[in-house]
This record gives sequence, C-alpha cells and structure tokens, in this order.
Amino acid sequence: MGIEKRATFLPFVLIIVSSLYQSPTFAAEKSFIVYLGAHSTYDSELSAVTDERITESHYELLGSFLQSKEKARDSIFYSYTRYINGFAAILEEDDAVRISQDPRVVSVFPNRGRKLHTTRSWRFLGLEQDGGIPKESLWSKAKFGEDVIIANLDTGVWPESASFRDDGMGPIPARWKGICQKGSDHKFNCNRKLIGARYFNKGFGAAVGQLNATFNSPRDNEGHGTHTLSTAGGGFVPGASVFGYGNGTAKGGSPRARVAAYKVCWPPIYGNECYESDILAGFEAAIKDGVDVLSVSLGGDPMDYFNDGIAVGSFHAVANGVTVVASAGNSGPAAGTVSNLAPWLVTVGASTMDREFPSYVSFGRKKLKGESLSAEYLPKNKLFPLIHSQDAKTVNASTSDAELCLLESLDPKKAKGKIIVCMRGFNARVEKGVAVKLAGGAGMVLVNDESTGDETIADAHVLPATHITFSDGLKLLSFLKASKSPLGTISRPRTSLDVKPAPFMAAFSSVGPNPINPEILKANQRLFPPDITAPGVSVIAAFTEATSPTDLDFDKRRIPFNAESGTSMSCPHIAGIAGLLKSSHPEWSPSAIKSAIITTARTRANNLEPINNATFSKSNPFGYGAGQVRPNRADDPGLVYDMIPDDYLNFLCAVGYNSSFIAVFKKYNCPTKRTVAEDLNYPTITIPNLVSSITVTRRLKNVGLPGTYTVRWRQPMGVDLRVEPRRLTFAKKGEEKTFTVKLTLKDKSAAEDYVFGWISWSDGKHDVKSPVTVKAKW
Ligand SMILES: *[C@@H]1O[C@H](CO)[C@@H](O)[C@H](O)[C@H]1NC(C)=O
Ligand SMILES: *[C@@H]1O[C@H](CO)[C@@H](O)[C@H](O)[C@H]1NC(C)=O
Ligand SMILES: *[C@@H]1O[C@H](CO)[C@@H](O)[C@H](O)[C@H]1NC(C)=O
Ligand SMILES: *[C@@H]1O[C@H](CO)[C@@H](O)[C@H](O)[C@H]1NC(C)=O
Ligand SMILES: *[C@@H]1O[C@H](CO)[C@@H](O)[C@H](O)[C@H]1NC(C)=O
Repeated sequence: MGIEKRATFLPFVLIIVSSLYQSPTFAAEKSFIVYLGAHSTYDSELSAVTDERITESHYELLGSFLQSKEKARDSIFYSYTRYINGFAAILEEDDAVRISQDPRVVSVFPNRGRKLHTTRSWRFLGLEQDGGIPKESLWSKAKFGEDVIIANLDTGVWPESASFRDDGMGPIPARWKGICQKGSDHKFNCNRKLIGARYFNKGFGAAVGQLNATFNSPRDNEGHGTHTLSTAGGGFVPGASVFGYGNGTAKGGSPRARVAAYKVCWPPIYGNECYESDILAGFEAAIKDGVDVLSVSLGGDPMDYFNDGIAVGSFHAVANGVTVVASAGNSGPAAGTVSNLAPWLVTVGASTMDREFPSYVSFGRKKLKGESLSAEYLPKNKLFPLIHSQDAKTVNASTSDAELCLLESLDPKKAKGKIIVCMRGFNARVEKGVAVKLAGGAGMVLVNDESTGDETIADAHVLPATHITFSDGLKLLSFLKASKSPLGTISRPRTSLDVKPAPFMAAFSSVGPNPINPEILKANQRLFPPDITAPGVSVIAAFTEATSPTDLDFDKRRIPFNAESGTSMSCPHIAGIAGLLKSSHPEWSPSAIKSAIITTARTRANNLEPINNATFSKSNPFGYGAGQVRPNRADDPGLVYDMIPDDYLNFLCAVGYNSSFIAVFKKYNCPTKRTVAEDLNYPTITIPNLVSSITVTRRLKNVGLPGTYTVRWRQPMGVDLRVEPRRLTFAKKGEEKTFTVKLTLKDKSAAEDYVFGWISWSDGKHDVKSPVTVKAKW
C-alpha cells in the first residue's frame, strides 16, 4: 500500500512496523513492556514513597530473573507505578519469554513503534458567526474553556508560538502538578498558557540506539504537535494565515484553556515515530499532573486491547476522569482500516469544512478548479508547455516513479520551464512539487487517483501548483494525449468561503467496521469506528519554526502557521470541544462528554443533503460515526448514555477476556452472570452478526430538566426494530432509566452487507440520536 508522507496523508499512516522484531541491528536485546496486575483501585492516592516502593518491587521481580537487582536496575528504563503497574526494560528475548511465564506477570510485549496520525472550522461548527459570538455558542457558556487543562501526546510543542502567549491569563490552577521539563533546551519556557511540557524518549532510545542531549527537550521540531495542541487549546492570534491565504484569527477549540505537551514522538527511524513505552509514560504523567482532556493523534494497526499501549494508557486516564480523544487513522477509504478502537476512547474521523483555496488550471477552452496554498504563482496572460511527468522521466527512473514525481525521477532537460502533471500516491504531495522544482519545472498539477476521488487538499507547495480531482484529471490527461504541444497555466490561489457541500468525508479518513479479527479474540463487537467526524482537511493552526512546511531540507521557508490535513487534525477539534464541555459541566464523566458529542451530531451537510464521501456517494456511520460534531447542541444533550469504568471491564469480560488479561486494566473478577457485549451502554448500537433476533439494553441519564421523552426510529433495511418502552419520564436531574431495542431479521438478503438506521429520544427540545448498524450473519 502506498504511504503518502508528510502533509499528504502524512501525518499518519497508521502502520505499525514492529521494528524490534524486524530490525537486524538489535538481534538479541530488545526493549519490552512487562505488565503486572494492575492496582486494585483506579484512583491513586499513592504517595511518592509508594512510587518508590513499587519501583523497588519491579527491580526485585526482574532481578530474580537476571540473578541481580543491579542488572535489573540498569535494564529497566520506565517503572510505571501510579495507574499502570509494570515496567519497560531492555531484555534478552529468552528472558522476556521466561518472564512472561511468571504468574505475577500478565503479559510481555515488545516496545512497538506507532505512527503519528484553522481557523474557519470553529465558525463552520457554529461557535462563532459574522459579527461575533452568538449567545447560544458554547464558547460563551463555557467561558472559552477557561482553566480547563488540555494536553496532547505528540511531537512536542513550539513554545514561542503566538498561539501559546499567556496575555491576560490568571494564575495557573492550583490543582496542576505538572512541570516544564526543559532538559538540555535552555530556551524552552512555559508560561501561564503553556503550563507544562515533558519529554519521554527512553523507549525511542531503546529502539534506535544511544540518543544525544539534543533529544532531551519537549520542543517540536516537526510541527505536528504544535498544530494539534493549538487546534485544541490555542489562544486568539489575529492576522494568522499561510502566505496570506485564509487570513483571520487563529484559535483553538478551548481558546482560554491551559495547555501542556507530552512529547512521545520522535523523528521516524525504521518508519516509527512514537514508541509504546514512551506513550504509556506520557499517559501516566498526564493523569498524575492533572490533565482534563488528552488529545492523541497517533496510532498503529488495530490490536487486542490488553497489549495496545494506547488502549491501556487511555483506560487508566478515563478511569481517572480524563477524557481521551484519538484519531481514527488515515488509511481510508478502504474498509476496516480504523484504529484506536477501545470503547473508552472518542475516535474521530476527518471531513472538510466550508473553505477552499481554489487555484485553476486552464488549457484549451477548459478551466478546472483545484486547490493550493502556493506562495508563488505564474505570470498572468502567459501560457506554459504542459506535459505528463512520464514524459519528463530521467533515463534511470521507472515510469511509475516519474508518474508519481518522486525526487530525482524527472529530467531537467525535459521538464525545464514546463508545467508538469503528477499523479497522487505514495510520496508526499509537497515532495512532488519539490521534485518538479528541482527539475526546473515552472509549475505542477497534482492529479488524484481513483481512490482519492474528489478530495483536493491545499498545500504550501514550493512552486506554483494546484491539486485537482480524479475526474478533472481524466479531462486533463486526455487533452494532453490529443494535443501536439499542449499549453496551459495555473491561476493564483484565492480563499473561498461558504463552500457547499460541506462537510464531506476525506478519502484518507479510516473506515469501520472494527477490523480486530474475531478469531484472534472475540473483541469485534465495538461499534463505530469512528464515533464522530470533525474538520481535518486544510486546517490552519500554529506550526514549528524548526522546519519548513514541506519538512524537506531543500525548503528553507519557516512559517508560524501552516495548513495540514489528517485525522490528526480533526482529533484536536473534538479535544477542544471536550474541554469546553468539561468547563461547562465539570461534573460530567468522560463517557457523558462522549455521549453528548455523539448523540447531538448532524448527518447532513450545509446544503441540507446527507453527508457524502470523497467520491460524492452518501457516506454512513462507518465513515462519519454519528456525524459531524455540533458543539452548541452537545452542551445541552438532555440525556446521556453514561458509563463507569466497571462497565468497560464487563464489556471486556463479555468479549472473552479473562481475569488474567483484564488485570492489565484492573484487578477484577468478571461477574458470574455473564454480561453481553452488545449491552455496553454505548451511545450507538452495532450488531455485526444478527442471526434471527437480539434485544439490547441501554440506560439513559437525565442531565437536563425533568421531562418526558418519546422515541422515534428508522429501521435498517431488512430489519424490524422495536423500542420498549416508547416513553421515558425523568422526574429529576441525574435520574436513570433503561429501555430495550429489539432487532429482528426480516429479510436476510437486504442485510447481507451493513445496513443503517437510528433511534432518537425527544422531549420536543432535545433529540438524543444514536445510529443503529446491523449486518446479518452469513
Ligand atoms: C545528535 O544526534 C542527531 C541525530 O543522530 C544528529 O543529527 C545531531 O547532529 C547530534 N547532535 C549533536 C550535538 O551531537
Ligand atoms: C490579514 O488581515 C489583517 C486584518 O484584515 C490585515 O491587517 C493583514 O495585513 C492581513 N495579512 C495578510 C498577510 O494578508
Ligand atoms: C539517476 O541519475 C541521476 C543523474 O545522474 C542521479 O542523480 C540519480 O541519483 C539517479 N537515480 C537513481 C534512482 O539511480
Ligand atoms: C463512496 O461510496 C461509494 C458507494 O458506497 C463507494 O463505491 C466509494 O468507493 C466511496 N468512496 C470513497 C472515497 O470512500
Ligand atoms: C486466561 O487465558 C489465558 C490464555 O488463554 C490463559 O493462559 C490463562 O490461564 C487464563 N486465565 C484464567 C484466570 O483463566
């Protein structure tokens, strides 16, 4: 499969390369994570003395295998003591196997690497409008997220960014226990806005070898972490733009929140960026420091929850009241590509907003609309030779390399002064532009392949360039074929607002259903990957000034704001909104916040038609989950599907994890009366293998005024749907009521593939809506 790099799908092609097993460099000694049974409570009142005692016990345990506590001390590089119980260590493979057989040990797994996965979007989501901030805006109600603490696990932060200035911010909340870990970077400073930063590089070091002191810093040299953190919680910065395009006020979802950066991702070596042991250490620190909302725009291949560091770390975070938001991944549009599936996470897909940066390519009598953020543009009224990149191939390059405009695949003798037409795929979109520029090309037209369809992305290309759709590409290519010496030009980009239809789903956004293989572990009952969608295409937010917008050495440009695309960008939108909800409703649990976001989403675009996918067919819950987030409605959902951590453990029992596996999360005995996975009080319903009939139970909690709700529904095709009772009366706030949904297969062939319906509870003011997804068992 093609991996487009940076600013392409870049930031996140969620593919795990288990480099520890594959890399020949570290044949015998590797780093591992050893999970011991979890502590018996979720919530840790443990003191520093206890931390030390637990660390000592880790040395002792490992020492008993290595015949020396000293050796154990040298080999352990993280001791997780607060929420997670376990350690990360460099071990011989044989020792790792022996340790895994010890009854005190739950599991041992390699320290795998993970991949990483403005400001129009808030207006598009209804938080502001022309002339200011409407009264119903959650921004007004939540005081812009004042004093909520939002953090990310990412590539660190550029602390000098204007998005993290602390003008007008009061003292740091007393409950904050974090630090500003400068390491060797003496210029790195926190303030009352960026209240904390830490770096975790021991797992990375264990995998790639000795690190020098330049790695001891939370500074973002890549841009990804600065972009995501400022999207979630950056302050107001007027006059922000990318080379003048999209000029406006940059702002995060919770612009008055405090933010903190936990750097767990490092430059990709062996294809990985973020190592599990560092991710786990980041989770532990964030929980301990007092973070309210964590934004996690990274992931890997889907895997069993008990050996997935993001699932384990986020479980402990959620159990301690921290909302964790994660990106669904950028491996779409193929089905079954979603990652970050654990039901305690909020999993976010990516879609467009109502802004474009149109730049036209003209040839013959045609003028086709593309998108671009090129700072350079071609002179008006001049035409340039227009050629297919294959016709500019160097002798030693392959036709397919030239077609994709890989670096060094184009011959300057053939490309000089011409506009080169390159195909999308594999290498970064902006890198193609660099290849053309280095070959002396005057401009580039980037053409989608069939799978990316109509999704065009505005990038800060290094030369005049535009990105056009697949169908327009066919027109251009047939013109090139038919003409002897084709001529054309590319127009200077503009900023265009109120674009319709918006949103539509980005082609890269990962799609359900849950791919965890039911044969490996019957954990395929979870539901909607993703839960929700938010803007993730051409999002403008703060950037690092340590590298260029293309991240290529050739590109010497440094810009304080950049446009990026990916589920990595949509994830912090939801984190910012979760921050507002936390500020507005401090008493809500992470699952109440998640439910409010899910049940109030919209499934129609701004032309009032259903939300489409990138090739303009109707999308569905496997693409967008419950739909596009509506923050103002999420503030007042009426009812929520709440859950406590034990509900998640019962779910794990139901899908077949036994108490030894569950011990990674908590010492817990599965109930003797077996629970049913479908009964997890999730705000959506998914039945992947309906035989004849199933009845699922849900529990609603009133978070609004007393009232009576009645239910409406739409049946999935071929399925009969009944809700009992049809009316629920809530006499007071906090009251909970249960109901059942009975799904009966009427026409098996109609439900051969997934079919979609919904149920919605309404009191006349609120609509508490849940998608219902069913597939017949074959
Ligand atoms: C530290 O290591 C990096 C990566 O290997 C290298 O690029 C850099 O020059 C080194 N810096 C110093 C001060 O040695
Ligand atoms: C952005 O807009 C502001 C206010 O309208 C203006 O002062 C500024 O010059 C603009 N910046 C760019 C780069 O166009
Ligand atoms: C092809 O030849 C060019 C020019 O000699 C050289 O710079 C480039 O590295 C070669 N590329 C490959 C893939 O061998
Ligand atoms: C959009 O949906 C149609 C119909 O389900 C499907 O054939 C097409 O592949 C989808 N396109 C994308 C980019 O997901
Ligand atoms: C849980 O399952 C694993 C693997 O199937 C097994 O080794 C272990 O003994 C089981 N634990 C319990 C408590 O049944």
